[in-house]
Amino acid sequence: MAEDTVAAVQALAQRAASVCVLTGAGMSAESGIATFRDAMSGLWSRFDPAELASEEGFRANPARVWAWYAERKQAVRAALPNAGHVALAEYGRRRSGVLTLVTQNVDDLHQRAGWPQTIRLHGDILADRWLQPCPSGRACEVAQALPGEPPRCADCGNLLRPGVVWFGEMLPEDAMAAAEQAARACELMLVVGTSGAVWPAAGLAAVARRAGAKVAILNPDASEIDDQAHWVLRGTAATLLPRLLDSG
Ligand code: OAD
Repeated sequence: MAEDTVAAVQALAQRAASVCVLTGAGMSAESGIATFRDAMSGLWSRFDPAELASEEGFRANPARVWAWYAERKQAVRAALPNAGHVALAEYGRRRSGVLTLVTQNVDDLHQRAGWPQTIRLHGDILADRWLQPCPSGRACEVAQALPGEPPRCADCGNLLRPGVVWFGEMLPEDAMAAAEQAARACELMLVVGTSGAVWPAAGLAAVARRAGAKVAILNPDASEIDDQAHWVLRGTAATLLPRLLDSG
């Protein structure tokens, strides 16, 4: 990796008035959480997203989908923030008012590393919610679940579902609006550990670039949005972020 590229990103990170960081599954890979599209280890190389990450898939087999997310929740609870999560949170605290951190990740590792204001574009795997508005117009109440089944409402039968955004669903509007605003306003955007395959999150790099920001991509492999980058740094989140963001 060219030293002048590292130096250029370091310098801009230290002087920019506004920095937006977009993270994806690669951010948490070194915490032991599987990515989606890595050829061997990615979840979507072994599982079908139509079955496990869509409302149709959930309705077709709620027990299977619930069990799959239960395993993933367990992995998230057992994981610890890595040096990259910590470097981002420390940078944000050190340069007060500068950092907007936007994540596609449904884990809570940015929050646990010390950046609770992280904007979540794809929801929170640890926050279950009801599948549909309560048909009776009252608040649903969890009944005792059968083993391996998602809990149902005692009254109307509504199902609890994982609080993540599934394929075909809208992103939370407020989160997306805040992310777009940060992308438009920043001087530097770091895009960390995402394949850039999922929209609209992948479009944030182009939003930032069009608005005049410098864009740096941090990823050990090629991504689908490398063409949006002024600088591409080949390496992992836990090695690159401390190097780029620590004040030294
Ligand atoms: P992907 O699995 O598509 O991409 C992960 C990226 O991380 C790849 O580009 C890898 O090269 C890179 N990577 C792997 N290890 C890394 C490391 N240690 N450091 C840095 N980068 C590393 O994950 P996302 O781009 O996040 O949707 O996927 C986007 C969305 O697709 C996810 O949010 C998820 C999925 O379906 C929802 O959960 C709604």
